[in-house]
Amino acid sequence: MTEQKQTFADQKRKTVETAEFTEDGRYKRKVRSFVLRTGRLSEYQRNMMNENWSEYGLEHQAEFFDFEKIYGNSNPVVLEIGFGMGKSLVEMAEQNPDKNYLGIEVHTPGVGACLAYALEKNIKNLRVICHDATEILRDCIADESLGGLQLFFPDPWHKAKHHKRRIVQPHFVETVAKKLTVGGFIHFATDWENYAEHMLEVLQSVQRAVGIHNISKTNDYIPRPDFRPLTKFEARGNKLGHGVWDLYFIKD
Ligand SMILES: C[S@@+](CC[C@H](N)C(=O)[O-])C[C@H]1O[C@@H](n2cnc3c(N)ncnc32)[C@H](O)[C@@H]1O
Repeated sequence: MTEQKQTFADQKRKTVETAEFTEDGRYKRKVRSFVLRTGRLSEYQRNMMNENWSEYGLEHQAEFFDFEKIYGNSNPVVLEIGFGMGKSLVEMAEQNPDKNYLGIEVHTPGVGACLAYALEKNIKNLRVICHDATEILRDCIADESLGGLQLFFPDPWHKAKHHKRRIVQPHFVETVAKKLTVGGFIHFATDWENYAEHMLEVLQSVQRAVGIHNISKTNDYIPRPDFRPLTKFEARGNKLGHGVWDLYFIKD
């Protein structure tokens, strides 16, 4: 039987998190906001990753990224966590050439699809990372270096016993706020009302301490902004009759 060759793209799936150990050498089990789906990496997505990683891909590293060097300019960098198949991220990069985009996604078929679309559109102001975003934020992003953070339709983890897996937690927002420049934004969107309420509660609980404010006139949600392209999960939610909640905060 012929064994299929494990290419860079196939291996990537195994390195989306960094193994960490306690002082006495035991593996530290972490609460993750994702479960790696077994979804098949198509031949096309695999090739896209293998052939275009040097142009678009960045790796987890133990020092901060030098964005000027990476993008070749000093435009603001907008970080998107969990871009899914990446279509809306590529559209935003195309519509905003005066910004740099950095997308993080652990799902390799999504990363492959995003690269394919970026290549088709000849996008230059985009880089992608296939790694747990919380580790990237902690290890690779300098304080006061981001123009914005967007998180669209994160996994809602519906059951109460799984709420601890939700990526939006006080510590997460504190970390994100530190990474933003003054005037930088935090933009969350969800189609799950209970997660929207949770996001608002978390943001409000830390807003004074971290120096961010809500731009909503009603001090909760903003109307769906036109500049946010429809995402795959949003379209799915629309079909199921779900509502949409957008939250938008600015760093003071
Ligand atoms: C429900 S999907 C939404 C995808 C896309 N934003 C959309 O609206 O179509 C959430 C995505 O976040 C990714 N994700 C969850 N936790 C993550 C993490 N810690 N780092 C990177 N990606 C993550 C998942 O792999 C998944 O693709």
